[in-house]
Amino acid sequence: MMVPQIEFPKHKFSISRLVYGIWRLHEDKEGNSPERILKKIETCLNLGIDTFDHADIYGDFENEELFGNVIKKHPHLKDKIKIITKCGIQVPGNKFPTKHYNTTKEHIRYSVERSLRKLQVDHLDVVLIHRPDPLMDPYEIAEIFETLIKEGKVNHFGVSNFSPSQFQMLQTVYQKLLFTNQVEFHPFHTESLFDGTFDQALEHKIHPMIWSPTGGGRIFSPKSEREVATVSKLKEIAKEHGCSVDQILYSWFLNHPAGLVPILGTNDPGRIQSAAECFSYPLTRVEWFSILEVARGKEVA
Ligand SMILES: NC(=O)c1ccc[n+]([C@@H]2O[C@H](COP(=O)([O-])OP(=O)(O)OC[C@H]3O[C@@H](n4cnc5c(N)ncnc54)[C@H](OP(=O)(O)O)[C@@H]3O)[C@@H](O)[C@H]2O)c1
Repeated sequence: MMVPQIEFPKHKFSISRLVYGIWRLHEDKEGNSPERILKKIETCLNLGIDTFDHADIYGDFENEELFGNVIKKHPHLKDKIKIITKCGIQVPGNKFPTKHYNTTKEHIRYSVERSLRKLQVDHLDVVLIHRPDPLMDPYEIAEIFETLIKEGKVNHFGVSNFSPSQFQMLQTVYQKLLFTNQVEFHPFHTESLFDGTFDQALEHKIHPMIWSPTGGGRIFSPKSEREVATVSKLKEIAKEHGCSVDQILYSWFLNHPAGLVPILGTNDPGRIQSAAECFSYPLTRVEWFSILEVARGKEVA
C-alpha cells in the first residue's frame, strides 16, 4: 500500500502522510555516501513518502548539503520531492559563545538563502521557525515571510515547538495561514493532546507534524516501568493484528482527527518500509485509549 498524501486545503498543497526526517542522516551506521542517501530517498519515493524534513542545523549544518549533493547529481528528483526546512537556532561556536535563537528578518533571509544553496533547489516548499524565540517580533517575522514568498523563495511558512498562544500571536499578525506547528509527540510525550496544540490545528484545518514519533527510539528500548508497560501494550495489540510494534505505534498517530503527520527518524530502509505499512492496521477507539492509558499511567477521568 502506498503512503497517501494529506491535503492542506487552505494552502492548496499536500505532503505525504509520513514524512522522512533528515536530523539523524549523519548518524547512519552505513555511512552517508551519496549512494546510501539516494537509497533512502528512493526507498521513500517508492513507498509514496515524498516529503523530507530538514533544518539548517542538522548534522552540524551539513545534512542539507549532503542531501543537496544527491539532488544535484539526480536532478529529476527535484520534481518528485517536497522540502521542509527550519531556521532560527544559533549553535554556539567561534562566531557566538552562547546558544541562542535568531528570528530577525536578516537572519531568516540569510538562513533561507543558505538552505536554497545547500539543498540545490530553487524554492523551499515549507520553512518553519524551529523554536519559539523569546525575543521574536511577530510583525518583523510576518514581513519577511511575505517578502520571501513574493520573491518565490518559499511557498509556505510555519512554526515548530510553539505553544498555542505563541502560534496565535504570530497567526494574528501574519496575513496567510501558518502551515503547521511541528511538535514532539509519542506515547511518552502526550502533552499536545491536552494543551490546545492539536485543538488549534483542528480549528485552523492544518495538520501538526510530529517529531520523534518513536521517542527517539525509546519505544524499542524502554527504560522506566511505565515505558515498559506501554511497549507491552503495543506488543499485545500488534500480536492481535499480526503486525509489528512500530506499525501499531504509527497507526496510533493516525486516529487523531487533526491528521498528525509523523516524521520518520530511522536510517534503516527496512524500517521505513515497515512504517509505511501502518495504514493496513487501523486501531479501534478502545485500542487507542488503551495505549494512552498505559502510557500516561492513568485512565481518563
Ligand atoms: N522540530 C524539531 O524541533 C525536531 C526535533 C527533533 C526531530 N525533528 C524531526 O523529526 C524527525 C524524527 O525524529 P527522530 O529521529 O527522533 O525519530 P524517532 O523515530 O523517534 O527516533 C529515531 C531513532 O529511533 C530508532 N528507531 C526508529 N525506528 C526503529 C525501529 N523500528 N526499531 C528500532 N529502532 C528504531 C532509530 O534507529 P535506526 O536509525 O537504527 O533505525 C533512531 O535512532 C527528525 O529527523 C527531524 O526531521 C524535529
